[in-house]
Amino acid sequence: MVENNNKPILQLKDISKTYSSKTSFWGGGGKEIVALNHISLEIFKGEIFGLIGESGSGKTTAGRLIVKLEKPSAGKIFLNGNEITGLRGKVLKDFRLKVQMIFQDPYQSLNPQLSIYDTVSEPLHIHKIENVQARKYLVIQALKSAGLTPPDDFLHRYPHQLSGGQRQRVAIARAMILKPKFVIADEPTSMLDASISAQIFNILLEMREKLDTTFLFISHSLAAARYLCDRIAVIYRGNLVEIGPGEAVIQKPKHPYTQALLDALPKFGHRYEVRRYDTLLKVERDASQVEGCPFFGRCKVAHQKKCIRERPHLVESDGSHLVACFYA
Ligand SMILES: Nc1ncnc2c1ncn2[C@@H]1O[C@H](COP(=O)(O)OP(=O)(O)O)[C@@H](O)[C@H]1O
Ligand SMILES: [Mg+2]
Repeated sequence: MVENNNKPILQLKDISKTYSSKTSFWGGGGKEIVALNHISLEIFKGEIFGLIGESGSGKTTAGRLIVKLEKPSAGKIFLNGNEITGLRGKVLKDFRLKVQMIFQDPYQSLNPQLSIYDTVSEPLHIHKIENVQARKYLVIQALKSAGLTPPDDFLHRYPHQLSGGQRQRVAIARAMILKPKFVIADEPTSMLDASISAQIFNILLEMREKLDTTFLFISHSLAAARYLCDRIAVIYRGNLVEIGPGEAVIQKPKHPYTQALLDALPKFGHRYEVRRYDTLLKVERDASQVEGCPFFGRCKVAHQKKCIRERPHLVESDGSHLVACFYA
């Protein structure tokens, strides 16, 4: 476990991101999509921090903002206390050394025309590490750490000659070759089989130990987060609804949405679905006019008046466990 008395390596302060949907053929549309809605969080050095929510909840957007593939619409992001928005020139290059992202789809994230050696060594060129011996050594080490052994068997192959799991290992080797301080792993195993996922998770854990890297692990699965994460944040349609130590969020979830996510996990040894919490409405209510809680439309325990009108903010529930619900 990681102690939180050190300074955060990453801070999001009141981050929002809105996209405008393109005007449709019929002249409609043009309305705003709120991908992230006033998100604040801190991640500490050495942590594996999980960001968990269903598809479309804004997880990838958060990752893309942190690696500076996109700009926030509002709010600020700090790495080691320095704001990252205005970075330019050498400082930006230095930032790109320190912060890496592993993407969800290993079939799209690798350039099909580059051999594995060229793929993994590309960051070395970009950062002007040109000594051939040194480069080869680093590539081999990175492939080994990512579980591609013997590395010589992979150097001259191409992505299409590899399985999905092997490709994701190549993406990991590439992301880790310059020993980044902070890595975002965006659903790195959601396209892989369960047994391969477990191996990839173990590689991430090993890298955390060896390189002292901090991870933001993005997933739709609380089961995966439970295995990996020191702390977990749950996001619902761009809103953080719960943050806490991994164990606490899984064993004592406080937000009705987190509880619904846990109810949805398959359970071994049960022939019928077991609904421990039963917080999800079978039929969604119309919540288009609701100004209060973002989860109102699906929440069984919502209060018809209060939750429609008032928006719950993240507040401390016990110790380091935060929840945004009046009835948690
Ligand atoms: N480039 C974009 N343009 C318009 N809408 C986008 C764009 N990227 C993401 N979105 C929208 O933002 C929301 C969050 O998307 P995303 O961050 O990809 O969610 P997740 O990774 O949790 O599935 C979705 O409604 C998605 O359609
Ligand atoms: Mg995503």
